[in-house]
Amino acid sequence: MAMMDPAPPEALRPSALPRHVAVIMDGNGRWASARGLPRIEGHRVGAESVRSVTRTARKLGIQALTLYAFSAQNWARPPAEVAALMELLRDYLVGERGEILDNDIRLRAIGDTGRLPAIARDPLEALIADSADNSSMILTLALSYGGRESIAAACRQAMIEVKSGQRAPESMEPEAFSALLPTAALPPLDLVIRTSGERRLSNFLLWEAAYAELYFTDELWPDFRRESFAAALRDYEQRERRFGQTSAQLDAGHDTMAGEKGAIAGT
Ligand code: FPP
Repeated sequence: MAMMDPAPPEALRPSALPRHVAVIMDGNGRWASARGLPRIEGHRVGAESVRSVTRTARKLGIQALTLYAFSAQNWARPPAEVAALMELLRDYLVGERGEILDNDIRLRAIGDTGRLPAIARDPLEALIADSADNSSMILTLALSYGGRESIAAACRQAMIEVKSGQRAPESMEPEAFSALLPTAALPPLDLVIRTSGERRLSNFLLWEAAYAELYFTDELWPDFRRESFAAALRDYEQRERRFGQTSAQLDAGHDTMAGEKGAIAGT
């Protein structure tokens, strides 16, 4: 019997779509090793997955897509791999520039981008500036990014403001803290996807993921394309997000705490 095609991404219910999806793109090295190829080949094919998932997210109307492209800890990889990843990032930024601008996508970056070499930083800054007025989707690249590092930076900022008298310590509620993070302008994080079978956050969006749904798949990132992304979104569609409330409360429509605001008090 012929296998039925999986439902296309277009079959997803728009009302059940996440607004903000973040992806830990893991498994490039293993994908390459399994084929006897150098690790960078895995990253190169992984960049194709970036294109496929970005296109699909834009078509579906997802508002924000955040990709963990290079962690603060990835600088410790062999220098040749770091250099190759930076060249790949440059090629991506140069090669995708037209598609990003034509599709009204706004590019942003989070992380210590000042550490990036000029070959990647220059096209990154140019595309961030040139896409600043686009509004159909925000594509955020996490580059030299660490969740703990971003929380520590926000703490430092708050302490500077307290010291200068601009901020009262009592004002530091969770919402006020969120506003100091580099993700402040993005919708609340709804879904984190991680490929390659690992089940951890690896210092990615630690604060932001407080109420996010987590989706893990054994597929390696270079194999993760449109249909795999649709499968993750279908899984998300089935989740019940309670934000610390009970199912009965949600059924009764007492969702006064829905959204990130009140969610902090939940369990
Ligand atoms: C993790 O796989 C992946 C990375 C550290 C880099 C991610 C980069 C890309 C997907 C391509 C470039 C990105 C853009 C935006 C153009 P791994 O190397 O840790 O794999 P392994 O765990 O199998 O070794």
